[in-house]
Amino acid sequence: MKAISQSIRKKDHDPKIEGRSRYLADYNFTDSGKEILCGKLLRSRYAKAKVLSVKLPELPEGYLYVDRGDIPGDNNVNIVLDDTPVFARETVEYIGEPIGMLVGADEKEVERLLGEIEVEYEELEPVTDLRKADHAFFNYEFGHGDVEKAFAEADKVYEEEFRTGYQEQAYLEVQGMMAEPEEDGKMYVHGSLQCPYYVHGALARALGTGPDGIHIFQDVTGGGFGGKEDYPSILGCQVAVAAHKAQAPVRCVFDRREDMEFTPKRHPSICKYKMAVKDGRVTAVDCDVIFDAGAYSTLSAVVLQRGIIAAPGVYDIPNVHVTGRALKTNTVPCGAYRGFGAPQTFFAVETMMNHIAQDMGEDTIRFKEKHLVKQGDKTSTNGKYHFPVPLPAMLDEVDGLAQLRKKHEEYSKPQTGRCRRGMGLSVYFHGAGFTGSGERDIIKATAKLHKYADGTVEVLASNADIGQGVRTTFPKIVAHELNLPVEKVYYNHPDTARVPDSGPTVASRSLMTVGELLRRAAIKLRDIWVEGEEQEVEEHYKEPDFMIPFYLDRFEGDAYPTYAWGVNAVEVEVDTYTGLAKILGAYASFDVGTPVDYNIVMGQMDGGFLQGLGYASIEKMDYDSKGRIRNNSFTDYLIPTALDVPNLKVTLHVEEYPDGPYGAKGAGELPLVGAAPAYVEAIEQAIGRKLNHAPFNAEDVIAALEEK
Ligand code: MOS
Repeated sequence: MKAISQSIRKKDHDPKIEGRSRYLADYNFTDSGKEILCGKLLRSRYAKAKVLSVKLPELPEGYLYVDRGDIPGDNNVNIVLDDTPVFARETVEYIGEPIGMLVGADEKEVERLLGEIEVEYEELEPVTDLRKADHAFFNYEFGHGDVEKAFAEADKVYEEEFRTGYQEQAYLEVQGMMAEPEEDGKMYVHGSLQCPYYVHGALARALGTGPDGIHIFQDVTGGGFGGKEDYPSILGCQVAVAAHKAQAPVRCVFDRREDMEFTPKRHPSICKYKMAVKDGRVTAVDCDVIFDAGAYSTLSAVVLQRGIIAAPGVYDIPNVHVTGRALKTNTVPCGAYRGFGAPQTFFAVETMMNHIAQDMGEDTIRFKEKHLVKQGDKTSTNGKYHFPVPLPAMLDEVDGLAQLRKKHEEYSKPQTGRCRRGMGLSVYFHGAGFTGSGERDIIKATAKLHKYADGTVEVLASNADIGQGVRTTFPKIVAHELNLPVEKVYYNHPDTARVPDSGPTVASRSLMTVGELLRRAAIKLRDIWVEGEEQEVEEHYKEPDFMIPFYLDRFEGDAYPTYAWGVNAVEVEVDTYTGLAKILGAYASFDVGTPVDYNIVMGQMDGGFLQGLGYASIEKMDYDSKGRIRNNSFTDYLIPTALDVPNLKVTLHVEEYPDGPYGAKGAGELPLVGAAPAYVEAIEQAIGRKLNHAPFNAEDVIAALEEK
């Protein structure tokens, strides 16, 4: 293990363990000593309706109501497109859409008054069935080779449809934001968030102040997993509009039901796959991917892009055609969740490959192995796998952990008896960092180091520690290059008044991309270091030279500079009387490059893998025909805990990436992405049925067993 991989105590370990960390809900007063007003959202009761009138009860002094008429700037939240309003426009587009916010000193009183508001609606016909949705926010198409010819010449053509459901991020800390007008006229907005400068951009637009009028800070954040990538921009604008009107601090912290029901989650999907097989090999793949975007487009463009780029999987298939659409339904907008579109398509392609192999009478593991991409091969977008593809070695590692091949063969034979077993496999990647040229053309990250006269060094960057450890790993990198004890280097929560824009905390990019900027900055500082002086250095992102430029209009070029790789195996025992599946073992080899702190990376791997197993099995969430989410509590929406998968074994395979710090690649998202196909294949083996959707819970097992 490299020296940099040796684990240290996390910088925020003590305050978190001792309960000293101050989360947004913990503020009794603002830092300037002011009383904080409580804001609560007035939400739509219908999935689609015209709002005819809002009749307020008499409001006591100090209580007020804001809606779109109070927005000083633009009623658009700056995300990707301009369709998400701060407060509802003439029509509401989903159940729970914020129409306005009621604000006052006493929370109970605000709640009471909120219940007395009378809203008159004219109900309209909502779209609540993805199959009937006809408005595509985004519609992409790409490919290479000659798919039609390959289908015409095939020995056999396979077609199948796959479905996946919602997944809720279920972070420990719910969404919450607070806004406070500052003495100098700026609006100060802070809370639980991943992307300070996204919130900054959104606020500047909604308040119409321009960037100089806005000040953003990230409070201690109890998890994000993508759920706090775009949403804090929306809630941030809402509390800021209220604070602007009240000219007083306003905070809005959701309760768990509100958070689960009305904030973004993973896109449900329907993927149609068609594959051609000739002489035992897959020669063409044609996939049509649809994502349920919900009522507004928010992040769906980028989620869909990542999903469709991954649609052909890790296989060398000469002819590729992919179409993808993010469709509007009158439901809560979907957004980012660890994996960002890829868990859906990897579930589809992995399961498709299994089913083809089974039909051909081949072992699914061997069938996948003989199609694996190699270094130098083309990617789905005519880019290149520039670096070694370690999947064969990783497969052997997982075989060692799980007795994968032996058990897979054993369980593939017909089973009888109440309890039956299965072993499933998945092989996959996660594109490291932003998709396409976003890093180069849009983000243009800058990071700084500030050295104080006493020799301590502060990291100045905008990446949020959301549990993944950048408050520790950033200083670790800098201390390593400067030969300082890590106590001498620190990284505060980002405050846009003090730090440059080093980009958002998304896409498994922080450590790989910003960590590398900091490593180079540290080397610069080392070279000019003068004892006793205050000094500052700065670094800017530069795209690696080897990259084939990416063109989004054609989906051509390197969508990612490199890839993290994953091999998962899951062993289950299914009780055919109850449908319950016990996970006997979950095994993985993950290649995220060099771990910059072994314990932190293993925490990410274990946690992400477990979240993926939840997505595969018990995390079922759906809306009814009226468009209302039916699972809005941890009673109705189950997530796994360590007790559900006691035998979870992860090994790291290190394929160093030369442009990441010490060889590190993107890590955060990878471990979630491949769990569902491995789990569902294991269930297939156990019950001897062909399955095509995830999550697959006990009820699904019973239903599948009853099908003849
Ligand atoms: Mo992340 S799922 O790219 O916020």
